[in-house]
Amino acid sequence: MTEYVKTAKEAGIQTVTLARPDKKNALTNEMYGALADIIEGAEEDSSVRVLLFRGDADFTAGNDVGEFAALAKGQVKSEPQSTRFLHSLARSSRPIVAAVRGRAVGVGTTMLLHCDMVLLGEDALLSTPFVSLALVPEAASSLLMPLRIGYARAYEMFALGDAIDARTAHAWGIANKVLPIETLYVEATSLAGRLARQPAGSLSAVKRLMRSPDVLAAQMAMEGAQFGARLQTAEAREAFTAFAERRAPDFTKLNS
Ligand code: COA
Repeated sequence: MTEYVKTAKEAGIQTVTLARPDKKNALTNEMYGALADIIEGAEEDSSVRVLLFRGDADFTAGNDVGEFAALAKGQVKSEPQSTRFLHSLARSSRPIVAAVRGRAVGVGTTMLLHCDMVLLGEDALLSTPFVSLALVPEAASSLLMPLRIGYARAYEMFALGDAIDARTAHAWGIANKVLPIETLYVEATSLAGRLARQPAGSLSAVKRLMRSPDVLAAQMAMEGAQFGARLQTAEAREAFTAFAERRAPDFTKLNS
């Protein structure tokens, strides 16, 4: 277990905290592996009735961009743990609550589409800048995001990568509530507690009726094929180099 993912279990709630604050909780392969282990473990552990995801300050700046660059260079030989994480998330039968403060970038936002209840702190900023990194959306968000917020808004979020604030995300139906940051985690724990006291079998049956893991897995497979291909492009090389060099990328001289 990596030090960057902390977990604690109490009163049927397994709280999972992303804790790599100096890198805005950017997710490494090891962190994805730890998250997948927790979600898969919860599935086998009847004492876990609800999962609660939160960040230490910011939620997460998304996938570690340095690791994207390593993937693009073919330096990673094994199957990325992000795939296992996303599939376990999509297949989880447990109610999942997310409490989000600060930045939720990339997978930080798309994983919210797999959470059953989302509470946002007033300072939350959600963005999906996959195209700005010359990539495509993942986590079945190419299906779930337009379903949730409509094509026009979803396309704009993906294509331009601008962040939306908490009130906008709430108005668009990505979140259940916006809360003052002082009360966010207390309210999230209280909400998770209410879910933990509901009949677990009924909750998981409702979830299965409302979302099909097989449909989500099929969408993720299509996205994964595109994502893998995009990683190898000159556009992606330019995006990752620009991030490392702390400059804006210039895609204008590159053709598709
Ligand atoms: N991968 C790797 N490192 C990241 C990261 C990421 N996704 N996001 C932030 N970091 C690192 C920064 O490089 C910086 O490291 P340093 O202190 O060693 O230089 C540190 O985290 C703090 O980030 P910084 O950019 O200084 O904070 P900020 O408050 O000015 O901006 C963000 C925060 C999230 C807007 C900005 O960091 C960002 O855009 N990150 C990239 C997000 C992204 O593209 N994710 C992938 C989505 S598909």
